[in-house]
Amino acid sequence: MSDDATPTDHQAIPNGIQAPHHLNLPYPDKPELITSNLQKLIELVPNPRHKFVFERLISHMHEFVNETSITTEEWMNTIQFLTRVGQTCTPIRQEFILLSDVLGVSALVDSLNCPPVKGATESSVLGPFFTEDAPDVEQGGSIASEGKGKYMYVEGRVLSTDGKPVPDAVIETWETDDLGFYDTQYKGREFADCRGRLRSDKEGKYGYRAVVPICYPIPGDGPVGELLLNLGRHNMRPNHLHLMVEAPGFRKLVTALYPAGDEFLSSDAVFGVKKGLVVKLEEVNDDAEARKRGFPKGGSFKLLKFDIILSPEAEAEAARKAFAEERAQTSGRPQ
Ligand code: BEZ
Ligand code: FE
Repeated sequence: MSDDATPTDHQAIPNGIQAPHHLNLPYPDKPELITSNLQKLIELVPNPRHKFVFERLISHMHEFVNETSITTEEWMNTIQFLTRVGQTCTPIRQEFILLSDVLGVSALVDSLNCPPVKGATESSVLGPFFTEDAPDVEQGGSIASEGKGKYMYVEGRVLSTDGKPVPDAVIETWETDDLGFYDTQYKGREFADCRGRLRSDKEGKYGYRAVVPICYPIPGDGPVGELLLNLGRHNMRPNHLHLMVEAPGFRKLVTALYPAGDEFLSSDAVFGVKKGLVVKLEEVNDDAEARKRGFPKGGSFKLLKFDIILSPEAEAEAARKAFAEERAQTSGRPQ
């Protein structure tokens, strides 16, 4: 045996905080004493918001264990499941976000933090497939290489809630190809495809070529996929086109547009669809028009017309505060 006394990385050391004798904690030898001891310890949390959130978390978790009388085996399975979720994460795959998405937590957090602002485009889930390397696309240019799907032209204006045009807004947009895969899901991806970055013009107008979105399954080869199977839930997202729009003085908008008619619109695996984001695609059956818009093979195309309405920063913040206050009044919780 080595006599080297150097601690290993996993050798624990005291953190320096003293025993809380002043709390007079009883031995936690009954279920309810475990909960009440922990609740007394929460009094030590210095940050009031942390104290509130942690107290509620413990209260709900302990209540959950009591209510379900969860077995030791079930709890070990849960821990093993969460361990596998963590082990599935890589620099480009985030299984914890996927778990939060399918449990509706991502959508719920977003709906509390980005409540609707009158007249403004609503938000939707970001998802894990946004990348920073989208190419710049000219007005009327294409975000997709030829052969990636059926032709679609997307156009509209970027406006403020007061109806004024927002020039020079940066629009990031991305979608899958007609096989339901993002470019990042292909081995040996050499360049970005089905994604682009463009700017609204002086009148706030934007327009670009894309492909008709299709529904597709979210990654199902990990623990989250297994969970959905065990819950008897499908892993489909309805057809959609992602948009992220930024302009100085406005709240950054992360959203998606969902063409009407998809069978998964009301049961989206990640709860991203809002009524105001469901759009109608027009069929344009005009070879000359298709060629004029730059579709190499002409023929027909779908037209998605959508005005993106941004909310000024102050309006968005006021809406968030008002919503939080309204909810606090009905529940008695601090914001
Ligand atoms: C997406 O739309 O890209 C997506 C969103 C949440 C989870 C998985 C995929
Ligand atoms: Fe998506």
